[in-house]
Amino acid sequence: MTSVSIRDAAQVLRPPEDGLAFLRHDRARELTLEPSAVALDGGLVAGFEPSGADVVVDASGCAVLPGFVDCHTHLPFAGWRAEEYERKVTGVPYEEIARTGGGIAASARALAAATDEHVLEQSTALAHEMLVHGTTAFEGKTGYGLSRDGEVRAARLGRELASRVAQPMRLTGLFAHAVPPGFTADAWMDEAEALARECDVDALDIFVESVAFRNEHLARWGAVARDIGRVLRAHVEQLSTMRSVPVALEWSARSLDHLSLMHPDDVAPLAAAECAAVLLPGAEFINAEHAAPGRELADAGAICVLATDFNPGTSPIASMPVIIGLAVRRYGWSVLEALIAATLNAAWVLERSQYLGSLEPGKRADVLVLDGPAEHIPYRFGHNPVAIVFAAGEPVWVRPDQAWRVTRS
Ligand code: NIG
Ligand code: FE
Repeated sequence: MTSVSIRDAAQVLRPPEDGLAFLRHDRARELTLEPSAVALDGGLVAGFEPSGADVVVDASGCAVLPGFVDCHTHLPFAGWRAEEYERKVTGVPYEEIARTGGGIAASARALAAATDEHVLEQSTALAHEMLVHGTTAFEGKTGYGLSRDGEVRAARLGRELASRVAQPMRLTGLFAHAVPPGFTADAWMDEAEALARECDVDALDIFVESVAFRNEHLARWGAVARDIGRVLRAHVEQLSTMRSVPVALEWSARSLDHLSLMHPDDVAPLAAAECAAVLLPGAEFINAEHAAPGRELADAGAICVLATDFNPGTSPIASMPVIIGLAVRRYGWSVLEALIAATLNAAWVLERSQYLGSLEPGKRADVLVLDGPAEHIPYRFGHNPVAIVFAAGEPVWVRPDQAWRVTRS
C-alpha cells in the first residue's frame, strides 16, 4: 500500500472534533479550513504532519477535502431522456410528461430493453465520471424495474455495479417509485413489500407524490423497514405539499429527500429529529422546482445533506461541485455549510460516517486535492476543481495539468 504525504495545503477541511457521526448545520461554522499537511498510510488517514512517503503531493494554494459522498443517485440506469428535457423547458409539466409515457416509465422501458452488460457499462462509466468530480462513495437505487422481475433485476445490477466501481457503493430499494401499469398503489405495495423482504438492499425508499404513492403507503413502508431492519428514506414534498414529513418522522426515517415544497411548520420538527434533510438542487434546477428551505433548515440545526439525485430525468448531473454551486446560490449557504452537507452528513445517511466523510486519523483515506481554495467550488460554477483523487490512500485520478504536483519515490 502506498504512503502519501500531502504538503503545504492552503486549506485542510477538518471537523470541530473527531468521532462525530454528523454535524448539525447550526455548527457548520465550527469546521476549520486551515493550512496543514495530511499523511495517508495503509489506506487510512494517518495524521496531519509532513512525513516521508512513497508519494509526495505539493498542495500549495490548494484545498484538501474528504472525498464527496453522493448519498442519492438513481444508478444503475439505462439511456437518457434528452428529448423529454426539451419538452420540459418549453413548458410541458412533469405530470403531463409522466402521463404520456415519459418520466420514470420511459427509463423503465430503456432498462428493460438494455442488456445487463450495457447497463453496467454505462453505469460504470458514469461512476468514473463521478470519481473525476470528487465523489469517492455513493448510493444507487432500484426503481426503474417497475415490475416484480424488473426490480429484482435492478437490485442484482446494483450489487454488480458496486463490485465494479472504484468507490464504495450502497444500494437502496426504491421499490415504490411509480405505480406500474395494471396495479393500484395499494396492490403494488404488496409487491413492494415482498421485494423488500427478498432483495439484498441496504435501505428502503419510496416516492410520495400526487403521481406516485401516498402518506398511508409511506407509513406502511416505515413499518416494513422497521420489521426487516433497514433504514427508511423517502422522496417527499418534491412537486406538491403532501405533509409527509411528520409521517416519516413518526417512522424514524433516516433521510427525507427533495423537500422543495415542504410545509413551513415541518421545518422545526425535521430540524430537531435525527433525520437528514437531503436537498437536491440539481433536480430543483433541471425540473424548475421551488427551492427547498435550505437556509431555514440550516439555521434550525437540521442535519442538512446535498446529493446529485443523478438520474436520466430530473437530474442528469454527476458533479458534486455543480451541486455545491447550486446549493450555495439557491439556499444562501456558506461553503462550509455546503461541504459538511456533501461529506460527513451524507456518509451518515449511508450509515458509513464511522469510516467515511471527514479527514480524521483512522478513517478511510478518500481525499481530494483541489486546484484552488474551497471557496472556488461554488464561485467558479461549472469548473471541475478536482485536481487529484485518493481512494483508500491510492491516487486513482490525477488531472493531467496537475500531474506536476505529484512526486513518486
Ligand atoms: O428523484 N422523484 C422521483 N424520482 C426521481 C425522478 C426519476 C425520474 O424522473 O426518472 C427524482 O427526481
Ligand atoms: Fe431521486
